[in-house]
Amino acid sequence: MGTKKLKVGIIGCGGIFNGAHIYAYQDNKNVEIVAFCDIVLSKAVSTAKKLGFDESICYENYEDVLNIEGLDAVDICTPNYLHSIIAVAALNKGINVFCEKPDAVSVSEAQKMQDAAEKSGKVLMVMRNNRYNNYSKFLKKYINDGKMGEIYTARCAWRRRRGIPGKGGWFTTKAQSGGGPLIDLGVHMIDLCIWLMGNPKPVAVSAATYTKFANSETEADSEHAQFGEAKADGTFDVEDLAMGFIRFDNGCTMQIEFSWASNIEREHNFIELRGTKAGASNDTADKSFKIFTEENGITVDYIPNLPDSNGPHKQNLFHFFDVLLNGKEPDFVPVQGVNMVKILEAAYKSAELGEEVKI
Ligand SMILES: NC(=O)c1ccc[n+]([C@@H]2O[C@H](COP(=O)([O-])OP(=O)(O)OC[C@H]3O[C@@H](n4cnc5c(N)ncnc54)[C@H](O)[C@@H]3O)[C@@H](O)[C@H]2O)c1
Repeated sequence: MGTKKLKVGIIGCGGIFNGAHIYAYQDNKNVEIVAFCDIVLSKAVSTAKKLGFDESICYENYEDVLNIEGLDAVDICTPNYLHSIIAVAALNKGINVFCEKPDAVSVSEAQKMQDAAEKSGKVLMVMRNNRYNNYSKFLKKYINDGKMGEIYTARCAWRRRRGIPGKGGWFTTKAQSGGGPLIDLGVHMIDLCIWLMGNPKPVAVSAATYTKFANSETEADSEHAQFGEAKADGTFDVEDLAMGFIRFDNGCTMQIEFSWASNIEREHNFIELRGTKAGASNDTADKSFKIFTEENGITVDYIPNLPDSNGPHKQNLFHFFDVLLNGKEPDFVPVQGVNMVKILEAAYKSAELGEEVKI
């Protein structure tokens, strides 16, 4: 470890900062928060106080944070449409960026982020916390060791029965979120599969989206519905279910399904990969992580006994700190973000047109 402390400004002090990012700062002695910013100043102040700071380092306007001398990085935890705007402004000032998912709300915005990162030579990393689950890390190594053979197809989903986040607020307002569960949850599981498959390039998407629960009064049954502030009589112009199919340049395919609300038994998320030597699946419905293979003419199931994942969001931030402080090779590069948003944008386009869209 180097001796210099990393100076970081936090932009957006809402649910995900207080629910997850905060632990990365509490537990890392090599990083120092020098600013807390929220457009609602009281949220910046209450967050600062939790970490033992006072209002003297709290800001309402993110541009003031970007002007702080010696600032090394910002951690962007704002609504989706602001990710690219703040990230590009920071990179243009030579400030490294860690940003929450989804990368951006359109391909052109994601491309601006990649361009700004390349031009500045600074690090742009977007949250990919699911790569840091214990089962994900185990599988990545298993696949890299060649034990699954050629992976040619995958399925993934995050389905909720009733779990619309911040109904009526920014989450359900397309101009601020970019979309519903596809952009919100899809990024997590699609990225995880693509990363495990070795980052093939997406070439076409077919999808359908539905909005059926905008007027439902039924109580949420998902802890994740607590994200974002709900707004009575607010906007709901995004989907609540997306179904789709993605094709990749190497012939791989992926089936996807994401819902914030649908009439299914209960919330769960899963990934399933199929390779020529083995398949694998992880399903939160029954906390099962299994590998399916064969030995001596007999099919065999393996069940790795892994401990619970230890703060995947925190681990992702620790990796970002490690890249900046110790020159570690980043395990996320901006082109992965652009490719991700290409999939999402093509899926929305396909749903609108009712046909497959080429990327
Ligand atoms: N990785 C994950 O598991 C995960 C989970 C939840 C949310 N998220 C992502 O985190 C981001 C924030 O989500 P959240 O649930 O914390 O939402 P939130 O609404 O609770 O928090 C967002 C905060 O940003 C503030 N804000 C809005 N405009 C601002 C501006 N111009 N300048 C500074 N602050 C501003 C809001 O006042 C609010 O406090 C979203 O992009 C979301 O997709 C990621």
